[in-house]
Amino acid sequence: MDIDDERPELKAAEQAARRWLAGRTTRDIPATATWTEVLRAVGGPFPATGRPPVEVVERLVAAVEPGLMAIDSPRFYGWVMGGALPAALASDWLVSAWDQNAGMRDATPGVVAVEDAAARWILEALGLPAGAGVGFVTGATMANATCLASARDAVLAAVGWDQASQGMAGAPRVRVLVGAERHGSIDLVMRYLGLGAPEAVAADEQGRLIPAELIRALTAGSGPTIICAQAGNIHSGAFDPFEEIVAIAHAHHAWVHIDGAFGLWAAATPRLARLTAGQPGADSWTTDAHKTLNTPYDCGIAIVRDPAALRRSFGQHAAYLLHSETPDPHETVPEMSRRARGVPVWAALATLGAQGLAGLVDGLADAAAGLAAGLGAIEGVEVLNEVVYTQVTIAVGDDATTEVVLARLLAEGLIRPSASQWQGRSVIRFSVSNHATDEAAVVATVAAVARAVEAAQQERPPA
Ligand SMILES: Cc1ncc(COP(=O)(O)O)c(C=O)c1O
Repeated sequence: MDIDDERPELKAAEQAARRWLAGRTTRDIPATATWTEVLRAVGGPFPATGRPPVEVVERLVAAVEPGLMAIDSPRFYGWVMGGALPAALASDWLVSAWDQNAGMRDATPGVVAVEDAAARWILEALGLPAGAGVGFVTGATMANATCLASARDAVLAAVGWDQASQGMAGAPRVRVLVGAERHGSIDLVMRYLGLGAPEAVAADEQGRLIPAELIRALTAGSGPTIICAQAGNIHSGAFDPFEEIVAIAHAHHAWVHIDGAFGLWAAATPRLARLTAGQPGADSWTTDAHKTLNTPYDCGIAIVRDPAALRRSFGQHAAYLLHSETPDPHETVPEMSRRARGVPVWAALATLGAQGLAGLVDGLADAAAGLAAGLGAIEGVEVLNEVVYTQVTIAVGDDATTEVVLARLLAEGLIRPSASQWQGRSVIRFSVSNHATDEAAVVATVAAVARAVEAAQQERPPA
């Protein structure tokens, strides 16, 4: 029997995937069906009897496709969401077909070896310590949780408190100092970890933590301390001054964590590496592969300088597990069972090489610079940030006009930036995160904004 005849549902899925991918550059961004419409098509009472796999796949495709947002479009700039490199996507299909549980090295050596190779390449590409511990998690939020759990346990251990046996009730208060413009996932993680609200340190006009303010905050208190710095502000793309932060933090025996969900990758290109000066001096780092590296969802990466600290927080010794000499993957992340999400990371890095990776990151920054130049030349548009990396934030006159322009852009559907508030203003934020965003996409984007601005100005003539 022909292999295609044997598994017709796979053929159906492949054809649907190919059709979807073929429309990437031409399709409008928004979903055309609502959640209610899709739910109507896939919901209803739980069927008493099942249907053949190929029929299920075909029904799924027909129901869901109209409800998909074209996140993989070169004209998509919403939130911070990357596209998918071809090798990363293809290997992600294999991860599902192979169906390996990537938690134990000796049980599933194939995928664990690939993840280990990917981890070493990431450390090398980002200029981080070669012996650091690396864990593959769902995203930067969980990478922040993983790193900060290790940080919490380590700073408590340094004052004689064993979190693993003594818990958090009655523990010395752990101070967590963060920049005023840290990503909200840090605050969320504080809640997961029982650390309470972080203490915000003032940031400058680009959202960079101010070192003198950090010293002031540090000297105003005492006790076990973690400092969260940021590589890549979601509005400005700015990087905190890591050299100063690391020196100040370590003089105060504090742990430094860097949330570089999309910014850590600037270290991979000589053109932008200056932004990350001092980055390797931290104690832990978060990044995402599903943003700048352009792997499909989902993959975040938690990196901790001291692999023993990571294992102390996440190590497991149940009798039924196989144990390796070197920590097993499940000992570096909160999950025990998980998909081999590091495999597409390996494939992305293998298809790029060091030069291709630098080119990818440079390309995103070039497209952002091109956007900023084009948008800034439109009458009435203000580019609000210094465009140093992949983020461009604009306003069009007052808040109401900016909001009308955004509404028009979303209604037209050709491009997709994000609505946001920054520095007390309504803004439109562009995050260039897709390897496919080329000059043609930039030109089309600038033209779309020019159309929306003109229409908004006619709708709301200047006062
Ligand atoms: C700086 C930063 N940290 C954390 C996150 C959360 O990432 P994820 O959605 O992958 O959990 C983001 C998302 O945009 C981010 O920009």
